[in-house]
Amino acid sequence: MTSNLKLNRWVEEMATLCQPDQVRWCDGSEQEYNEMFQLMLASGTAERLNEELRPNSYLVRSDPADVARVEDRTFICSENEVDAGPTNNWAEPEEMREKLGGLFAGSMRGRTMYVIPFSMGPIGSHIAHIGVQLSDSPYVVANMRTMTRMGTKVLDTLGDDGGFVPCMHSVGYPLVDGREDVPWPCDGDQKYIVHFPESREIWSYGSGYGGNALLGKKCFALRIASAMARDEGWLAEHMLILKITSPEGESKFICAAFPSACGKTNLAMLNPTVKDWKVETIGDDIAWMKFGEDGRLYAINPEAGFFGVAPGTNMSSNPNAILTLTENAIFTNCGKTPEGDVWWEGMSDPPPSLIDWRGNEWTPESDTPAAHPNARFTAVASQCPVISDEWQDPNGVPISAILFGGRRATVVPLVAEARDWEHGTFMGSIISSEKTAAAAGKVGELRRDPMAMLPFCGYNMGDYWSHWLDIGRKQGAQMPLVYYVNWFRKSDTGKFLWPGFGENSRVLKWVFERCNGSANAVDTPIGNLPTPESLDLDGLNVDEDALKTLLTVDREGWLQELPLIRDYYARFGDRMPNELTSFVDNLEKELSA
Ligand code: GTP
Ligand code: SPV
Ligand code: MN
Repeated sequence: MTSNLKLNRWVEEMATLCQPDQVRWCDGSEQEYNEMFQLMLASGTAERLNEELRPNSYLVRSDPADVARVEDRTFICSENEVDAGPTNNWAEPEEMREKLGGLFAGSMRGRTMYVIPFSMGPIGSHIAHIGVQLSDSPYVVANMRTMTRMGTKVLDTLGDDGGFVPCMHSVGYPLVDGREDVPWPCDGDQKYIVHFPESREIWSYGSGYGGNALLGKKCFALRIASAMARDEGWLAEHMLILKITSPEGESKFICAAFPSACGKTNLAMLNPTVKDWKVETIGDDIAWMKFGEDGRLYAINPEAGFFGVAPGTNMSSNPNAILTLTENAIFTNCGKTPEGDVWWEGMSDPPPSLIDWRGNEWTPESDTPAAHPNARFTAVASQCPVISDEWQDPNGVPISAILFGGRRATVVPLVAEARDWEHGTFMGSIISSEKTAAAAGKVGELRRDPMAMLPFCGYNMGDYWSHWLDIGRKQGAQMPLVYYVNWFRKSDTGKFLWPGFGENSRVLKWVFERCNGSANAVDTPIGNLPTPESLDLDGLNVDEDALKTLLTVDREGWLQELPLIRDYYARFGDRMPNELTSFVDNLEKELSA
């Protein structure tokens, strides 16, 4: 119970609907976290890892039918279909409410309903917002404690009449009629991840995994927050935030938006290969940005932890992530070694035998991976060895540059700079990327993912672009420079041309120096590209031909993109901002000149 009448009333109403055996208000304490794992050990949901190798850490295996975000089961239920736009699933709000009412009725029987008050952003920050999640999953409680500021202190901040975003969640597996519990309860066939952007509500049913179930993350901090941001004149984006410091000791803050599993966590924590430069982490997935009095955008990381992709993470690709995970971590869908530690593809040479993410015996000869491709780790941000001093600054950090990117084997160069904010908005709007395992469905398919927000924009993408353009026109606005990067260009034989990871610091250095006006660029139809001498390639082991491919404009390739961009824009009808359409026409002219 709290003194907040609205919250008490809602909790009571939801308890009546879901009929849990009991209601428990979470305080966010360590003891409560440990209790959640006691429950998960007892139910077979979690295993404790070897205390010597991985202190206070757990391995969890999910149901194979519940391993990633489900975009085809995610809905934006705006009053009018056009306000959800052509890139979102829409359902008539009243019909959806009825549907959800049926699904949630009695859905928590035999279980506890946890009340999880959380703050997205440092408590009390003027950029932060509060949510309350109701959930019947101890796994969710434990993860929310790591991923957000959670518990009693949030209720104190909420006070008698503070507002919050209600986030309703059930795994959809009531224990009725003698039904036994299972290690990972979910409703495999019937998942609904539903957002009501106008009333700012979230209802999630049937999944316990990641962004489907940790509702502060994609559901609140992106889908609902993007709608709030549109109405209130700020930005809620799928972006990492990093701090970069030059050898002279000058620091700048940079955001970068890449689609899921396309390198945000890695870039946010990278160890630079350029000598005497330093990179530190503010956030690895989401940025909320508001204007400061000086007209600059100030960003906070609304999260308090990392829910990162495990496969591919190792001491050379991302040492700072590995060091973040030395203790107090939750691993989901990783392999387990005979010594009682975790393992995943790309961590090290495979051990001779393992238990895989499904709980089966595994050897390097097995034809399925030991860890699910979307296996994840959860750890608090404060354990990251390169977390920046400013990461909890309630005022946020001033952003100098924004990077957009995706996985493109062809066409898109290593880096291009937008001519101004409008051109940068255009660049963001045409991002396309090969699909990854972060969402259920076919991997590798090329799709448009504007601003890396395709699965996360809570309203019409055309209106979202207009909002970006409006933000740049605000009186006194000092907008960041905008870049389009691509770490994933491949050779004809399918090998990455760019070494990526720590070597991406070369591009960050160029961006930093462009912001200071000290690095050169050539004007091309697709934007400003580095001159050969302005990009620091000292000590880089990449052959001439590869560099040439990475740093020149593929005119033919871009010309072939244009009709695809036009078709894509046409889907937005009269919600399509004309400014962006003009950029396509100009690009065509310049490429053909
Ligand atoms: P989400 O948490 O899903 O939003 O993903 P993310 O954008 O944070 O991606 P992450 O940094 O976890 O990287 C995903 C995968 O891409 C991992 O397997 C990485 O090893 C790989 N990766 C990251 N950066 C690079 C890079 O610069 N080059 C190459 N080739 N692979 C990279
Ligand atoms: C993403 O898919 O972009 C993630 C993981 O960051 S999840 O929390 O599942 O959305
Ligand atoms: Mn993400």
